[in-house]
Amino acid sequence: MDEYSLNRELLDGVDKVLFSSQQIQTRVEELGSRISRDYVGKKPLLVGVLRGVVFFMVDLMRTIDIPLEVDFMSISSYSPESRNLGLVRVVKDLELSITGRHVLFVEDIIDTGMTLNHLLRTLKARQPASLEVCVLFDKGKNRQIEVPIKYKGFDIPDAFVVGYGLDYREGYRNLPFVATLNPQSIRSE
Ligand code: PRP
Repeated sequence: MDEYSLNRELLDGVDKVLFSSQQIQTRVEELGSRISRDYVGKKPLLVGVLRGVVFFMVDLMRTIDIPLEVDFMSISSYSPESRNLGLVRVVKDLELSITGRHVLFVEDIIDTGMTLNHLLRTLKARQPASLEVCVLFDKGKNRQIEVPIKYKGFDIPDAFVVGYGLDYREGYRNLPFVATLNPQSIRSE
């Protein structure tokens, strides 16, 4: 699947491609190589928050050539206001215990940092042997709280972006690239 042979309906509203599928894959491979080297002999447990991260998680896992395990959690916001404060409810917890494990928290995008900050505190309380963060896209301009990122794919501008797992109203996740949306396509909530 390349950028030019996609269904027109899927492309409706898409403005400018920021990162092509090839750019993303190349960067993911670089991250996977670093992680493979850093975690030799440690059998890391990769942890992701559904749903946006699944594309990155699957591609990243395929580039890591040491034994690993993976688990997912799912969260929901009590309200938009509480989400802005990073107060999220865990609706599906991890199946695996992380106590004593080398945990790599994998995220598709970090914006304010509030969600990650909250989840890292939750995971730290379970006493993993180590806890590091790997994020593909960092919208650093909006950061409200400092979060420790060990592995980062790309810095991304403060724009509404979709594709490669990132959604607008649950759409566009299956675009193979990351793009901005036309302002006319973005409706106020
Ligand atoms: C994204 C991302 C993080 C969060 C980051 O999830 O996966 O969980 O937003 O935002 P923050 O840094 O401002 O807290 P989203 O709410 O889009 O859900 P999704 O994974 O289902 O797309």
